[in-house]
Amino acid sequence: MNYDQVLSELETLATETFSLWDHNRVGFQWRHYTWNHTMRVRAMSMELGRREGGDVKLLEVAGTLHDITKRYDGVILTDDNGKRILDHNGFWLNEMLTPARNNVVTELYEKHNLEGKVHHESGAVITENILGMYDFEPAFVEAATSVVLAHLKPMNLTAEDFKLLYGSIENQILYDADTMDPNIGYTGFFRNIHIHAYFALQRGNFDLEEYVRNLPRWINSKQEFVDKLLTESSREVAQARQDRNLQLFTTMVAELDDMEINRKYGLLGIIEYFVSETEDPHFLNQLEYLKSEWLPLRKQWAAEEEKSESERERAEAAINRVNEFLTLLEREGRGEI
Ligand SMILES: [Fe+2]
Ligand SMILES: [Fe+2]
Repeated sequence: MNYDQVLSELETLATETFSLWDHNRVGFQWRHYTWNHTMRVRAMSMELGRREGGDVKLLEVAGTLHDITKRYDGVILTDDNGKRILDHNGFWLNEMLTPARNNVVTELYEKHNLEGKVHHESGAVITENILGMYDFEPAFVEAATSVVLAHLKPMNLTAEDFKLLYGSIENQILYDADTMDPNIGYTGFFRNIHIHAYFALQRGNFDLEEYVRNLPRWINSKQEFVDKLLTESSREVAQARQDRNLQLFTTMVAELDDMEINRKYGLLGIIEYFVSETEDPHFLNQLEYLKSEWLPLRKQWAAEEEKSESERERAEAAINRVNEFLTLLEREGRGEI
């Protein structure tokens, strides 16, 4: 078996599966989120695997498939009082969204009656069946299935059940990477601004200054996620991400004192760009656009336009802050930091 070939087929299967639904946004998810998140979680878990001495190929395969049934999730079900309905493990239950088209994943989903199961359970069944079609060792298939199953942690696990579910380091790692990605660091910030602005715009308007000043509330609310991560390496990475976010907040607040320049050249301009993209966000494409078009254009403006010495210097400093931000965002996206 050619591993690279198989991995590339699994990636194609994941992107194909995610595109079988036509809807864009449901709750906090959007069309391109699942794939971008999958790639980031996979990269982060492979990095954590290297640090913790885990099986990196196992994490690569399981990371690729971990959210394979996620697009079935519709709105979160609520009771008559508007409270979210939890199952006995503490997972939110979702309405099921039927795909507009079918492939081998949706066929397996039907064949194994996975409707109504939370996506880590249905995803584990799909993973086991898909990997079974290739020449993997049975122990590898079993381990990958277990990693996918463990990527959501049931509430109130007994010590015994915890050992069963998280006895292997790879299970702990994927859980950690999956918890970190939407919540902690610049990747969490990217998600937060697109969610926050989307709802703000629906209510009428997005207030830039208010958003920036309130960031610590959001950042600090994530500290408990850091403390509850399962591996030492994850807690280290996550704490560095938290610190980085608080630093980002300080830098953004300082930018508010020079609004005009910083909305044009600085991090405030980046926020406003993200706000303009809330309809259909795409992490990788937006990052590419910012690097290859947004930033070069500002560099050109800073060099060309008639402005005072002081204005030019402030514009250049703002551009440097954006450059730094994009570099770190990209490195987080690649799971390096
Ligand atoms: Fe998931
Ligand atoms: Fe995930």
